[in-house]
Amino acid sequence: MMINMETKLYHITDTVSQKNEIEEIAELIKKGEAVAIPTETVYGIAADCFNVKAVEKIFLAKGRPSDNPLIVHIERFEQIYSLVKEVPEKVKKLTDKYWPGPLTVILPKKSCVSDRVSGNLPTVAVRMPSHPVAREIIKAAGAPLAAPSANISGFPSPTSAEYVTDDMNGRLPAIVDGGDCDFGIESTVISFAVNPPMLLRPGSVTLEQLTDILGEVELHNAILNPLQENENAVSPGMKYKHYSPSAKLIVIKGSKEEFISFIKKYPSFADYALCFEGEENDIPLPSVTFGQEDDPFSQAKRLFDSFRELDEKGAKKVFVRAPSEKGVGLGVCNRLYRAAGFNIINCSEGLIIGLTGESGAGKSLISGILKEKGCVIIDADAVAKSLTVKGSPVLKKLSDAFGEDIINEDNTLNRRLLASRAFSSNENKRLLDSITHPEIIRICKEKAEKETAEGNTVIIDAPLLFTSGLWRICHKTVKVFAPEEIRLERIINRDSLTKDEVLLRFSRQTEETAASEIADVVINNYPPYRAEDEINKIF
Ligand code: TXA
Ligand code: MG
Repeated sequence: MMINMETKLYHITDTVSQKNEIEEIAELIKKGEAVAIPTETVYGIAADCFNVKAVEKIFLAKGRPSDNPLIVHIERFEQIYSLVKEVPEKVKKLTDKYWPGPLTVILPKKSCVSDRVSGNLPTVAVRMPSHPVAREIIKAAGAPLAAPSANISGFPSPTSAEYVTDDMNGRLPAIVDGGDCDFGIESTVISFAVNPPMLLRPGSVTLEQLTDILGEVELHNAILNPLQENENAVSPGMKYKHYSPSAKLIVIKGSKEEFISFIKKYPSFADYALCFEGEENDIPLPSVTFGQEDDPFSQAKRLFDSFRELDEKGAKKVFVRAPSEKGVGLGVCNRLYRAAGFNIINCSEGLIIGLTGESGAGKSLISGILKEKGCVIIDADAVAKSLTVKGSPVLKKLSDAFGEDIINEDNTLNRRLLASRAFSSNENKRLLDSITHPEIIRICKEKAEKETAEGNTVIIDAPLLFTSGLWRICHKTVKVFAPEEIRLERIINRDSLTKDEVLLRFSRQTEETAASEIADVVINNYPPYRAEDEINKIF
């Protein structure tokens, strides 16, 4: 893959007077190149859908997983018959109304549509864009064009030629600038491969508008919820992380006033807010805006831009004002929730803090002070112990993996024997972790959510916060720190152990120590620092 080819930039403002340039771009496509073109939704990377080598170039430029299928763009209705076997009456009715425009229909494909385009599915996605530049290019190229969004896979879809250039400069022979996109989120995708038809991706043609014409329309569960592990992605795009800025987003549901009180309760948990226009001055954080509260079209248009803007500003953690889920808002929420990894909470809820620290650093002291301040403590070690009580499913899995003799005659766990087997090799250690960690996370999450729902701030006290993966369910992570000599002395005094015994214990913690480098806050717990003062760093 050439990633430093020369990229020619075309500015097309008038398709009539700039016919020569349109021809030039179409020639590139006819020769089997992939080029970035504007559409009314987002920019796309277009190639002749019947030229497999050209389609391959799209995947290379985007770094896109090859099982994720592409949308084929047509310029007049008859072209659809080169792609699909038949067009049912209800699809015609729908496309009559919304084509050209931000609507994609999925239908059983003809065999001439390559598996490269359909991602090995028996169906193909088709759309007729309304952007005049896109339509003239398709027309001049003389073939339907396969075109996914013009971003590097996993990044937000580009809504201006400038953003396309950020991602694609040097990766494509041409980028066509046709101005800013009108809609700003990708087309509505509806599948007619199932009955009733199923909405796979909400967009600017709304669910309400689809139902008006089609009657019953099913809403795919993954639109507003994370895809479950055992759930099949009907639309392969659903299973990939999408639309994400680098900043971590937390979506907060509630009114503007409630949003502001929430920020005041957790002032240092986020460094930026993403809010609606006109709210910036009242919000006690540096803010980026995405449209007006009562106008989902304006939110859609700004959403991906606002993600890029947050990244440009170097935002790390962002509290986001949740928009309404109605009409075009469903499309906005779908993109936003996924970008936030479905980290969505109500303003009346509390947040979760993960607390780690090496042996002797004083994690318990800090957790004690936090408890006095009203936080609810969840002890991850206690949760781990509770997993292996008599007759528990985890105990059964452990005995299957490490031998039945790790269970005592009275059906309790022989911890010493399990430890000696599990710690005998890295492989066994990983096996143990793969049995216990997912359960520890599940239970801690369940317990934490019960408390946060009551408005409580929860501390997950976990010596293996990072290596267990528990940190992922926390809104902020805190590491308690003290230098090794001090920790050594504290433990020798506290647990009456020899120096060698303590050093052995320390040597088992090196993995967590390395992983905890990414903690949001470090609390110094040794003189001259004072724990009571240091703790203020958390809030
Ligand atoms: O607005 C848009 O649709 C933009 C512009 C450029 O037209 N294009 C776009 O393409 O968003 P892309 O590739 O980024 O998203 C296409 C989505 C993916 O989630 C893909 O999995 C899904 O449509 N898709 C495509 N063909 C499919 C099929 N046969 N069955 C199910 N899902 C399909
Ligand atoms: Mg895309």
